[in-house]
Amino acid sequence: MAVNYDREKQELTRRNFVSLSGWGIAGIATLGAAGVFGRFFWPNVQYGPPSKFTIGKASGYTDGVKQNIADQKVTIVKHGSQLGAISMVCQHLGCTVAASATGFDCPCHGSKYDDMGNVTHGPAQIALYWFDISLTPSGDLEVDKSKKNDPGHYYNIV
Ligand code: FES
Repeated sequence: MAVNYDREKQELTRRNFVSLSGWGIAGIATLGAAGVFGRFFWPNVQYGPPSKFTIGKASGYTDGVKQNIADQKVTIVKHGSQLGAISMVCQHLGCTVAASATGFDCPCHGSKYDDMGNVTHGPAQIALYWFDISLTPSGDLEVDKSKKNDPGHYYNIV
């Protein structure tokens, strides 16, 4: 009798083991399925270039001179104790404008802007953006292209 009892006890243990393993596998499969399902709620984000870039010190700019930062499509202008960062992206269809004696000219469809980026000749209807400029802890100035403003949004040089 004692042998049967031990055998029965051993079978219960095996049964428990098989049962627990089954639940474990089912749990892992459920978590995996939930992970795949949950992935649909995460957007496939494509990261572009950073919106911020440094432009050095204010002393590196000459009063009244437009200084292009071609790879960023931004022109830095200094007017007295103020600096401005003007977008060089045409507000018509996005061509890159070129600095001219009177302001900015678009080579694509002939839009013209004055020195402040205001439209003087269409087809563009909206002025060029001015971006935020701020001082970094290192003492360099930083332009943030994600902060778009109307013409005349200067940074005051301290
Ligand atoms: S894109 Fe500049 S005028 Fe059309």
